[in-house]
Amino acid sequence: MTAYRPTDLPECAPGLLPEDAVIAIDGPAGSGKSTTARSLADRFGLLYIDTGAMYRALTQAALSQKVAPDDEAGLVALLAPASLELRPSKGDVTVLWNGQDVSQAIRTPEVESLVSRVASHPAVRQEMVARQQAMGRRGGVVMEGRDIGSVVFPLATAKIYLSASLEARVDRRFRQYKQRGREVNREELTRDLADRDRQDSQRETSPLGISPDAIVVDSSGLSLEQQNETCARACLVNPALDLELDTDLSVARLEIPMHYRFAYFVFRGLARFFGLKQYGNEGGALPRGCIIAVNHISMWDPPLVGSTFHRFRVHTLTKAELLKVWPMGPLFRMIDSIAIVRKGYDANAFDEAKAALDDGQNLLIFPEGTRRAIGHPGPVRNGLGIVVQATMAPVVPVFIRGSYGKMPGGSQLSPLEVTFGPVMRWHGLSALLEDNDSKQASQIIGKLCERAFCELQARSYERFAETEFERELGQVQLKKFAARQRKVFRS
Ligand code: DC
Repeated sequence: MTAYRPTDLPECAPGLLPEDAVIAIDGPAGSGKSTTARSLADRFGLLYIDTGAMYRALTQAALSQKVAPDDEAGLVALLAPASLELRPSKGDVTVLWNGQDVSQAIRTPEVESLVSRVASHPAVRQEMVARQQAMGRRGGVVMEGRDIGSVVFPLATAKIYLSASLEARVDRRFRQYKQRGREVNREELTRDLADRDRQDSQRETSPLGISPDAIVVDSSGLSLEQQNETCARACLVNPALDLELDTDLSVARLEIPMHYRFAYFVFRGLARFFGLKQYGNEGGALPRGCIIAVNHISMWDPPLVGSTFHRFRVHTLTKAELLKVWPMGPLFRMIDSIAIVRKGYDANAFDEAKAALDDGQNLLIFPEGTRRAIGHPGPVRNGLGIVVQATMAPVVPVFIRGSYGKMPGGSQLSPLEVTFGPVMRWHGLSALLEDNDSKQASQIIGKLCERAFCELQARSYERFAETEFERELGQVQLKKFAARQRKVFRS
């Protein structure tokens, strides 16, 4: 497996991590997540959250209330009204289920053998993920689990996938049990861990797997100190890279031709007229050669989003039908629109997009392929993943809201805003491709981008709650667009 070693990672000065950082640590049972997550929480002054303990607490409650581990509705009925608290105490965490301390009870072999089954139910996961997101939404946390980087916090500041060989993990668990004075059989332990690996990575809903933007650390041959040090440095890689962006900016700025400046002038006028607000990336610093991936709800999205990168030259993948219309076609081509035929795979568009990215230009795409219902971003099509795999270009997810209701002829019933997410870089892609083919990898990248849109939407709703207008129109569009999408993509 391709994985980072301490020497591969840059020496990063401490203090680069923002206060509201979210560090996501995923990996199989026994890979050392808890030890490292605790050490990182200490080192960076963050709160440690063990999501496995939450699934264990539910399993323990199910055991004591005689709810079967396969009874999804029964488990949800148990979980929904329950209070579940993780309270830091003297370097450890106290787990409280309905106010009762269950920290010891959740570590028994009975709980251990059933927890993967309990955690496999979609409705249980939905409730747990919502609780975990609420715990970490303000940031300042290290969260460990199986789906933190891929599902719970798709926009985490740092994502680490901690792996280790089965043998190394069995060794560790064996020692842990011995220290606690418990007799265990080595073969049984090996079987149990292999079993949990299989259940955790083969379940339908958010299975354990490498998030393509996670830094993979193989701890098999590492001492504890080396493991902690490697992960601490890994946490600083993305923030350190983000600090370097301004240097790139000065180069990119020189390349903007006059007709571009004119187009941006028009777009900015439009954005100002409608009162577009921008959140994130206010300085306009994007890496060179990156993909700007935006959700799509209205034909006004391209110029509105375009107005926010007036300091850059950006190629835009535009539907071929639009580029045939005068005067839009010739105008859009002047500002580097690339025509894409959406039925099937368009090799010419792909080659043009790749050439632009390889040349350090930026590419704006609407990876859902067509307009989607308001409030329901996704699904993201495989094109994004195909381009990412061919270029390794970083992706900046961007969420646009309100361009439907605010525009001429529409009503003024939702805020008009563009929210930038952090840059996603594909550290874990080669490791991901060891267990997945290229098509599966594209689907995983697409899913991650879709979850990034949903997370940016949730942030937008925190600033200004979803309006009645958006909710109602979203429902109507969901039905209407389903039919249109079948027509657009029929190949
Ligand atoms: O990390 P742990 O061994 O305490 O986790 C217990 C179980 O919970 C594990 O078998 C898988 C499940 N789990 C999960 O499905 N998703 C998480 N985010 C955390 C744990």
